[in-house]
Amino acid sequence: MQQSAQLYDVINRRRDTRREFTGEPVDDGVLHRILSAAHCAPSVGMSQPWDFVMVRDATTLETFRDHVTDERAAYARTLDGERAATFERIKVEGIVESGLGIVVGYDPTRGGPNVLGRHAIADAGLYSVVCAIQNLWLAATAEGLGVGWVSFYREEFLRDLVGFPEHVRPVAWLCVGAVSGLPEVPDLERFGWRHRSPLDGVLHDERYQAGSNLAT
Ligand SMILES: Cc1cc2nc3c(=O)[nH]c(=O)nc-3n(C[C@H](O)[C@H](O)[C@H](O)COP(=O)(O)O)c2cc1C
Repeated sequence: MQQSAQLYDVINRRRDTRREFTGEPVDDGVLHRILSAAHCAPSVGMSQPWDFVMVRDATTLETFRDHVTDERAAYARTLDGERAATFERIKVEGIVESGLGIVVGYDPTRGGPNVLGRHAIADAGLYSVVCAIQNLWLAATAEGLGVGWVSFYREEFLRDLVGFPEHVRPVAWLCVGAVSGLPEVPDLERFGWRHRSPLDGVLHDERYQAGSNLAT
């Protein structure tokens, strides 16, 4: 396969993983490679404003899983009818099953006080962290691992759990682990929650045109 075809193949195979974790430990060399992929992501002013905390302790994994279960219930209470019934069937995390959580933090003090390119757009730091997460996700896919991004949590809870100082913002809990396989169809599509919108619905010529966007 050509290099470009391999890259597109990984991009298309990448899936958010919840159910497929086997619990087999991730090889240290593989973990180092996917973290290195994250660490060479683009970042505003080359600030590299990320931190990665590896969580494997069973008690910590369970504590976080319990918190996420509460937040899932809080979200479920905002739904009714068909949405509530559909959501009931959707798994939103594989925290304990994966055996490894990578908590990604954003440290806005990295790169000093005058980060090149961030003076007008403070969020550019956060965007950089998300680029690192995507690199990690694609590298993990290429390595045959599953990744599940969990966002059903309160930031203060996760900050305390992993000991981030006040100025470091938790951006993601990533469940990372060996999998039996990756689903071809995203869970949210499979369970009828939502479908990927067509590309045409988000393209605009020259200027944004309200109403040309088919995606709702
Ligand atoms: C910022 C962000 C937060 C997410 N939070 C969750 C989550 O809490 N639980 C979950 O199961 N999936 C979560 N996801 C995964 C999405 O549901 C998933 O990416 C989407 O359904 C498309 O599926 P795919 O990633 O397999 O293509 C999150 C994804 C992103 C980018």
